[in-house]
Amino acid sequence: MNRLDNVNSHALSVQNLTKTFGGVRAVDGCFLYVTSGVIAGLIGPNGAGKTTLFEILSGLLSPNSGKIFIGDQEITYLPPHKRVSLGLGRTFQITRTLRKLKVLDNLKLAAQSQLGENITNVWLRPGAVREQERKIEDKALETLKLLNLYKLRDEYAGNLSGGQKKLLEICRMLMLDPRLILMDEPLAGVNPALGEEISEHLKKLKEKGLTILVIEHNVKNIMGISDVVYVMNEGKIIAQGTPEEIKKDKRVIEAYLGVE
Ligand SMILES: Nc1ncnc2c1ncn2[C@@H]1O[C@H](COP(=O)(O)OP(=O)(O)O)[C@@H](O)[C@H]1O
Ligand SMILES: [Mg+2]
Repeated sequence: MNRLDNVNSHALSVQNLTKTFGGVRAVDGCFLYVTSGVIAGLIGPNGAGKTTLFEILSGLLSPNSGKIFIGDQEITYLPPHKRVSLGLGRTFQITRTLRKLKVLDNLKLAAQSQLGENITNVWLRPGAVREQERKIEDKALETLKLLNLYKLRDEYAGNLSGGQKKLLEICRMLMLDPRLILMDEPLAGVNPALGEEISEHLKKLKEKGLTILVIEHNVKNIMGISDVVYVMNEGKIIAQGTPEEIKKDKRVIEAYLGVE
């Protein structure tokens, strides 16, 4: 890997990132460059540092050192909401309150929370506010169609199956117009049919121009959908390549595949 790669050509650049917890070097001098418009898989054994890396990327944890860029914009110390407005998307589990809302309202709320309430607009420009609400509703319905949840738009989120809730999480994230999506094990605990469906949705999002970085524990799953696979071990990216290349890489087999 060329560590002097030009950051501009990448959707995401991680440079020499380190995060320690006491004596544990969870992320340890990590370099990672993700090209725009790909589905990139991130695999590695338990404890490799994958989730910690994602928490740092989304701004929930601060690194000890190193830098992160979205495109050519450095985001290393930006708060999470600023990263969201720069196009970084991440799924979160549907919380208790959101379960009491209908599916469509869940999506509308996701978009509104990003806009923020602006009282001046409400008083002075009611027309503009209505127009904005209509746009949000159109976008929500469109997003539900894309992920096959349209029929369930008036259902309470709490009544959805586990798999449908996962799709709803993805829809909520899409309402914020991400260009780069981080997903931590989206296929974990879903049945094979739904896993297949989620994989197809990810491919559709890629066709729309999004870049997707997805952590996956199941090597077979990730090989099927990724353009490029990164292997993390002991806080570092130890290999990257096409799924075919990764399957044959000796370091990968030793660090990971061999112990499966
Ligand atoms: N909040 C934390 N406090 C202390 N140690 C942590 C914390 N989060 C993660 N770790 C440690 O960091 C290492 C990497 O964990 P993690 O990022 O969850 O790995 P992965 O997602 O690849 O399984 C592990 O040794 C884990 O025990
Ligand atoms: Mg993890």
